Amino acid sequence: MMSVRHFLTLLDFSPDELHQLIERAIELKQWQKQGRIYEPLKNKVMAMVFEKSSTRTRVSFETGMAQLGGHAIFLSPRDTQFGRGEPIEDSARVLSRMTDAVMIRTFEHEKIERFAEYSVSPVINALTDQYHPCQLLADMQTWFEHRGDIRGANVTFIGDGNNMCHSYINAARQFDFQLRIATPASYRPDSDIIAMAGEQVTLFEHPLEAAEGSDLIVTDVWASMGQEEEQSKREKVFASFQVNAELMASANKDAIFMHCLPAHRGEEVTADVIDGPQSLVWEEAENRLHAQKALLEVLIS
Ligand code: CP
Ligand code: NVA
Repeated sequence: MMSVRHFLTLLDFSPDELHQLIERAIELKQWQKQGRIYEPLKNKVMAMVFEKSSTRTRVSFETGMAQLGGHAIFLSPRDTQFGRGEPIEDSARVLSRMTDAVMIRTFEHEKIERFAEYSVSPVINALTDQYHPCQLLADMQTWFEHRGDIRGANVTFIGDGNNMCHSYINAARQFDFQLRIATPASYRPDSDIIAMAGEQVTLFEHPLEAAEGSDLIVTDVWASMGQEEEQSKREKVFASFQVNAELMASANKDAIFMHCLPAHRGEEVTADVIDGPQSLVWEEAENRLHAQKALLEVLIS
C-alpha cells in the first residue's frame, strides 16, 4: 500500500517542513486578506469526526476547506455509527476510502493512532487527551508574524501538564526554543514526553520562577474536556498557577501572552492579562484557519 502522510503530532513533520508550513500559512493569510481566490482542493472532501466539543477547530477546518475549494463533513458520535461501537479499524477503512482526509478530535491518543494505521487517506489530530498539534501551528505562526524565528527564545507554560503542554514540549524540540513549565507536582506533563525533549525543557514548581526572563507566556484551562467533574478540586490545586499581572511582570517586558481558548477569566488567567496589550489570543485563534489551510494543502494536494 502506498504510504499515507498523517499529522498526529508535531513530530510527524521535520523542523524544515514545519518552518515551511508556517511561512506558507503567513502567505495564505495575505492572499485571503487580498481577496485572492485559491482553490487547489477543488472536489476534495474532508471528514471531521468530533467526539468532543469545538468552536475554533470546527469552524477553522470547515472554512479552510471551503476557501481552498473543497468541502468538509461534520460528524458527531450522536448521529453516526461512531457512537454505537463500530470498530475504529472499520470506520477508518470506510471513511478514508470515501474522503481525501479525515480530521479527528477524540479522547485517547491511541485511538487516533489506530485509526491512522487503517486509514488510506491522511489523518489529522484535532486534539486528543495527549496532544493538540494544530493549535501549535497557529501559536507558532502568531509568534513568527510578530517576532520572527522562535529559535532560542524562552517560552513558559503555566498550569496543567495537559495536551497543550505536551504539544509545547514537541514544539520546543521542532522549533528549537527553551520551554519552562510550571505545574502543581501531581499535574506534571508525561515523563516520557519530557525525557525525549532533553535539555530543552525545564520543570518548575513556582510559576514566578518559571516566568522569569520569558518571551512568551502560555496557559490553558485547569480542567480539560473530559475532566469536568474534577473542576472544583482542580480550582484549589491550581489556584497559585494563574497568569496575572504579577506573573507577567516577572517575564520580559515585551513578553507575549497566548492561550488556545476557550479561557476562564479569573481562573487560569485574569481579565487584565488576556484582554490586555500583551495578549495575542485573537490573532492566535484566527491563525488556526491559515495554519490549517497550509496543512491541508500539504496533506491533500
Ligand atoms: N483551541 C481550540 O481548539 O478551540 P475549540 O475547542 O473551540 O476547537
Ligand atoms: N486542554 C484543553 C484544550 C481545549 C482546546 C482541552 O483539552 O479541553
